[in-house]
Amino acid sequence: MPNSPTLFQRLPVVTAQNTTIDQLSLKPVDPFHGYFKPNHAAPELDSIIQSRSAFRWFRNIQQMISKGEYSFQQTMSGKSGPEVFSNNRTMFMLSSYDYLGLVGHPYIEAATINAIKNFGTGTGGARMLAGTNQLHRQLEKKIATFKGKPAALACSSGYMANLAVISCIVQKKDRVIIDELTHRSLIDALYMAQVPFQKFKHNNAEHLKSFLEKPTDAEKTFIIIEGIYSMEGDICVLPEIVALKKAYNAYIILDESHSFGLLGKSGKGVDEHFGISPDDIDIYTSALSKSIPSGGGFIAASEQAIIYLQHAASAFVFSSAMSPMNTAAALAGVEILEKEGPERIRKLFENADYLRRNLKRLGYNVGVSESAIIPVIIGHTERTLQLSAKLYELGFLANPVIFPAIPPGGDRLRLCVTAAQSKYMLDEVIYAFSLCTEIALSKD
Ligand SMILES: Cc1ncc(COP(=O)(O)O)c(C=O)c1O
Repeated sequence: MPNSPTLFQRLPVVTAQNTTIDQLSLKPVDPFHGYFKPNHAAPELDSIIQSRSAFRWFRNIQQMISKGEYSFQQTMSGKSGPEVFSNNRTMFMLSSYDYLGLVGHPYIEAATINAIKNFGTGTGGARMLAGTNQLHRQLEKKIATFKGKPAALACSSGYMANLAVISCIVQKKDRVIIDELTHRSLIDALYMAQVPFQKFKHNNAEHLKSFLEKPTDAEKTFIIIEGIYSMEGDICVLPEIVALKKAYNAYIILDESHSFGLLGKSGKGVDEHFGISPDDIDIYTSALSKSIPSGGGFIAASEQAIIYLQHAASAFVFSSAMSPMNTAAALAGVEILEKEGPERIRKLFENADYLRRNLKRLGYNVGVSESAIIPVIIGHTERTLQLSAKLYELGFLANPVIFPAIPPGGDRLRLCVTAAQSKYMLDEVIYAFSLCTEIALSKD
């Protein structure tokens, strides 16, 4: 990473001279604009994409770019981490899922390089045919043991793990009740499986119960939940949901993408956090691209469920195997989690509590966050984009989440804290937010 002075070394000097926030000129060099040209009207649409939806997208993207508010897809020149080099300058990263700060860990990198030497860069096919190697078996064994389940399956992404489980195991004659804030992959999987589903109010066990109480002729009832919800940063009310599962003879599918590696004293997940036995969770899924710094996902369940998925889940059977690099990185990542997890988790939560407390002190609404994900809820699309753009200008990458990704009025920045951020960095973040209260918190 080039040795340029960071914004954080310069900013206090600039502001000490009574420069107002609007006079700061720290614009990034050559930010990414997709294929759009700033200061032009939205282009005519190619006939192949002409649709109402494409028109809306192009209009919105062009508006953001014209106003200098397009902060998506910025290009990193180097590894992700608390500091990244992007658009010719050092930026502080506030939107990375690398919660434990394991990107660049020497043990994980060495294991991955070693895997390329021993297994090459590709597997040559799908798992069912020629694509299974020893690394897959080792990773699956490691995950099954770590999660306390008899078996596991390594998938090439978390999205695919959800698609595989739901489209294979849930049947049209079953009943599905799903938390309204679950990830898009779970919803897409239900559409793919053509299974009707009902949404219960977010993390509201009473509302879930009201669905479960209704008479049904469904063969099975599935409750679909997450360990930590990625938009709100709150933890699933698992003990209440497990009690309902038992009372109503239902099955739980739990996506731990944001809680695996973070919750519980050894990072096993939301079950460990609450002292709940893995026997009470029927199927776990998770990405391996967040606290575990790789790409891929897993399913952990009974041996029979895994055998069935290995042979009948089309998302698994008809897609190539997880690459040797990703498999080795995931395996090494879980090994590091076993060794260094407790200390990193402690630091992560210390950082998250510190940032959350200080954002609240400045008047920001951080919702019900209780994890490493801290939403800064602005509730206004334009102001959310302005805040993200201003932070971007100041040298912070903090992605906005706006309508339609979130219901109207929920527009927010979604900050992710990591164990690798120093107190100094967090103080700079807090300082930057203190400079932006006028944009973010104005009532008009
Ligand atoms: C809850 C949840 N499940 C699944 C996924 C998909 O994981 P992947 O990015 O590995 O496909 C994500 C991704 O962000 C997620 O947040």
